[in-house]
Amino acid sequence: MLENLPDNYRAVVFGASGGIGAAMTQALTADPRCGEVWAGSRSGTGAQGKRRNVRFDLQDEDSIAAAAGLIGEGGPVHLVLVTTGLLHTGHFGPERSWRDLDAAAMAQILAINTIGPALIAKHFLELVPRDAPAIFAVLSARVGSIGDNRLGGWHSYRASKAALNMLIRNFAIELKMKRKLAICAGLHPGTVDTKLSEPFQRGVPETKLFSPDHAAQQLLGVLNALTPADSGQVYAWDGQRIEW
Ligand SMILES: NC(=O)c1ccc[n+]([C@@H]2O[C@H](COP(=O)([O-])OP(=O)(O)OC[C@H]3O[C@@H](n4cnc5c(N)ncnc54)[C@H](OP(=O)(O)O)[C@@H]3O)[C@@H](O)[C@H]2O)c1
Repeated sequence: MLENLPDNYRAVVFGASGGIGAAMTQALTADPRCGEVWAGSRSGTGAQGKRRNVRFDLQDEDSIAAAAGLIGEGGPVHLVLVTTGLLHTGHFGPERSWRDLDAAAMAQILAINTIGPALIAKHFLELVPRDAPAIFAVLSARVGSIGDNRLGGWHSYRASKAALNMLIRNFAIELKMKRKLAICAGLHPGTVDTKLSEPFQRGVPETKLFSPDHAAQQLLGVLNALTPADSGQVYAWDGQRIEW
């Protein structure tokens, strides 16, 4: 499936309990070329076949460092997928106006969508091989594009993904100096039928609401087509580059 990674590649999925993350974990586990899949979640322990579960919490850097220590014992990591994210909780949802802004809610969204993935990069880009192809990919969102923003609203979520996109570009620049064969990319999955999108699916045509399995296949197809020259960009599920 990921022909641009070495045989027996080692993969880690952060957010394996989520809609898209679970589907991507399953797809990688089914890939005969994949040697080992670490499925990261807030509750993960145990193993089944080549799948190993690992616990982490984006708001606990020590847990991310511990996961890196454990996974790094087995050798380099060729694929890191960050599929975590937050848009709403029982207490808050996306803002329609500046009047809806709430410092605690905004801090929570930034902690999960921006700072958490950055901490994963901090600990896991070190595990990417220096002399073999590798991919670090993070689920972003088209609404994080500043140039594409014509509707406004969703202030915290949009800002968190725009900041994430800047980090993706920064990590790609650093990788180019330190790991020339590695790719760092953001991905927009389209509208996918998960807990995150559930309250916002009204008005989405059935053909544009993807199942998590379909989204996973599309996104892995997009990653399969990337080369190091494509690093530092955000790509949609159909392979199109998303403008900044
Ligand atoms: N669904 C869409 O239509 C859509 C569209 C555009 C972009 N995206 C992006 O795609 C990504 C995945 O979304 P999804 O639709 O699959 O959402 P989801 O089903 O709600 O999954 C979110 C995942 O994030 C994890 N997570 C949240 N807070 C965490 C924390 N503190 N520590 C560790 N894990 C944490 C959740 O873990 P728990 O199970 O423990 O809560 C869950 O695994 C997100 O970045 C989202 O912004 C989705």
